Amino acid sequence: MHEFKLTKEWTEEDKLHMLHGGVALDDFAENGTPLILDSAYGIRVKDIHGREYIDALGGAICTSCGYSRKELAEAAKEQMMKLSYAESWSGITSTAAIDYAHALSEFTPQGLGRFFFVNSGAEANETAYKIARYYWATKGFKEKNKIISRNLGYHGLNMVSRWATGIPRFQGKLGVPDPDIVNIAECYCYRCPFGKDYPGCNLECADALAQAIEKQGKDRVAAFVAEPIYGVSGTICPPPEYFPKIKELCDKYEVLFILDEVMTGFGRTGKNFACEHWNVTPDMLCMSKGMISSALPIAGVAFTEDIFQGMLCSDSFPHLHTCGAHPVSCAVAKRNLEIILEENLVENSAVMGKYMLDELTKLQEYPFIGQVQGMGLFLGFEMVQDQKTREPFKNKEEKKLAKAILENGVIVRPGGSRIQIGPPLIVTKDDVDVILAAIKKAVANFKA
Ligand SMILES: Cc1ncc(COP(=O)(O)O)c(C=O)c1O
Repeated sequence: MHEFKLTKEWTEEDKLHMLHGGVALDDFAENGTPLILDSAYGIRVKDIHGREYIDALGGAICTSCGYSRKELAEAAKEQMMKLSYAESWSGITSTAAIDYAHALSEFTPQGLGRFFFVNSGAEANETAYKIARYYWATKGFKEKNKIISRNLGYHGLNMVSRWATGIPRFQGKLGVPDPDIVNIAECYCYRCPFGKDYPGCNLECADALAQAIEKQGKDRVAAFVAEPIYGVSGTICPPPEYFPKIKELCDKYEVLFILDEVMTGFGRTGKNFACEHWNVTPDMLCMSKGMISSALPIAGVAFTEDIFQGMLCSDSFPHLHTCGAHPVSCAVAKRNLEIILEENLVENSAVMGKYMLDELTKLQEYPFIGQVQGMGLFLGFEMVQDQKTREPFKNKEEKKLAKAILENGVIVRPGGSRIQIGPPLIVTKDDVDVILAAIKKAVANFKA
């Protein structure tokens, strides 16, 4: 077996054998990937040069219980040696999957106690859309199959979910939009698409849903899907009245309400699930990431008993992934949930997040820092040319700032005109102070 020793060799081999998403391909072909990780522990990662970073992004806002946890490795080993695979299809399932579903039903919002497990957030979304369509078709509404989603939303990049993802840069060169997916205006108070100023508005962003349902016809719309807080677009929070109003509209028009909590679930926002901030329970909830600290692939859809009862018929639900409800992933996800509860990580997220938000808000003393927002350890701030006009920079200044923060030893993500921060939920106050110091130093030295 070939052994890689020279650090340069990793870059050359990466360039030779890999294709990555989300990077300019000509730049990758010439220079390879800028950060190649080799190991990680807790909240720290180490690259091939032996440089250590604090990962204030928690991978892709997913390594909630920290990297390389012994307890998760042990749970995986134990399950692998007991039952390394079982189908979840055609009359077979596993004790590990049932055991996890039971534990999870005590953590999800009341009423969401039935699950379908898959392997990625995009699959969870597409599963939810299929459940919605199957439910309505079984009830006799065969045409009720459109999915409404929002601009700026992110629901994964599979062939269907990418159209629910309302971000044009993820859709280029890949064919025409899916006619059964309709994007409506975003809910983004800082840059309101209706030119309004919250709280002096009528939540026109929520009314946009009613208008879209009226336009399509309520007998054509199966479901509405949204992230509770925009993630990939940069941690953008809704006003507190938004989701209660959305839920009311979904109920009024008999449209299923899917909340995509792939990024916000499992304590990320300081509650088990973000919907609990507004006392709103969706009909379906998509989950992944913090579900297993992304130590293995798993995702799922939680949904109501009403939906399950509505799907009942003599046909089967035509949906399967060979590794769906994988027993090893289920066993590890169960251990991950136990760690979240044993170590009070939901509360730690609320407390550390509040402290971080207060400190980050002080950055607004710099004229190029605009809105600072977040809930729990799900945070972000906007970069602007001018705080009054809120004019964004034209030259991707957020990338420059994120690079400077990286040079100070901390990983954050530039996205849209925002910097996003979402460390593992195990962070201590000392860790948070180190992260804040790296950000503050980069901001203080920043020149547009
Ligand atoms: C809200 C949300 N939904 C879906 C996805 C897609 O998940 P995956 O990358 O596992 O397909 C993501 C990924 O970041 C996400 O943040």
